Amino acid sequence: MLNVSSERIGKQGVMPKPAGGITRVLSHRDKAAVLAHLLRLDAEDRYMRFFAGITDNGIRRYVDGIDWKASVLIGHFSGARMVGLAELLPSGPRWQRGMELAVSVEPHWRGRGLGRHLCESALEKARARHMRCVRLLVLHENTAMLRMVRAMGAELSQEAGVVTALIRLKPDMQAMALAAMAWAESTIAQALHLPRRQGRLT
Ligand SMILES: CC(C)(COP(=O)(O)OP(=O)(O)OC[C@H]1O[C@@H](n2cnc3c(N)ncnc32)[C@H](O)[C@@H]1OP(=O)(O)O)[C@@H](O)C(=O)NCCC(=O)NCCS
Repeated sequence: MLNVSSERIGKQGVMPKPAGGITRVLSHRDKAAVLAHLLRLDAEDRYMRFFAGITDNGIRRYVDGIDWKASVLIGHFSGARMVGLAELLPSGPRWQRGMELAVSVEPHWRGRGLGRHLCESALEKARARHMRCVRLLVLHENTAMLRMVRAMGAELSQEAGVVTALIRLKPDMQAMALAAMAWAESTIAQALHLPRRQGRLT
């Protein structure tokens, strides 16, 4: 069992794992690893993840369509191979400040807490982006995922075999305070026409 619950993603977005790999935030440069990971999912896993029998070409189109600026992707690597992926995607109107989360873990890595760890890491990222909630869509037969979202305190509602799991986020007070300070500094600098150096008043 991985001891992951108390881990945090650091400033560089890299989180060392106690055993068996590294979890880090991905960029568009990781596109090939994301594609390879999703292509390794079998038909049943793809159905659980995408709610449809998606083909290899469908997965290629999906990965081509990822909006890397608006989304946050977190991968867990064992060596060069990405064995787990959390995708935090833009969802709904911006004013609702919500995102959608989906996760996938390769079969040999399941049941060790990695899915939960990736979800928790994604929630932390959403909180840092001042999101108020994260939503997961889960097929009602997806026992592992439902167990996980229940353990994370999600509110569940079900319609036509699809469970919507809503996780409300507590605001990240430290991030809010830093954002407020940065905003105040920039407003004062503009008002007084002061030069700014490295984001701070000189
Ligand atoms: C769902 C999935 C991400 C879980 O990954 P994982 O690494 O095995 O998850 P964890 O080890 O963190 O386990 C999470 C919970 O599910 C439970 N669980 C894991 N496998 C299970 C299984 N086969 N049956 C029932 N419960 C299971 C664990 O016991 C754990 O609950 P606990 O904390 O109360 O013990 C993985 O099975 C997967 O990728 N499935 C295919 C894609 C998918 O369904 N994605 C979800 C779309 S939102």
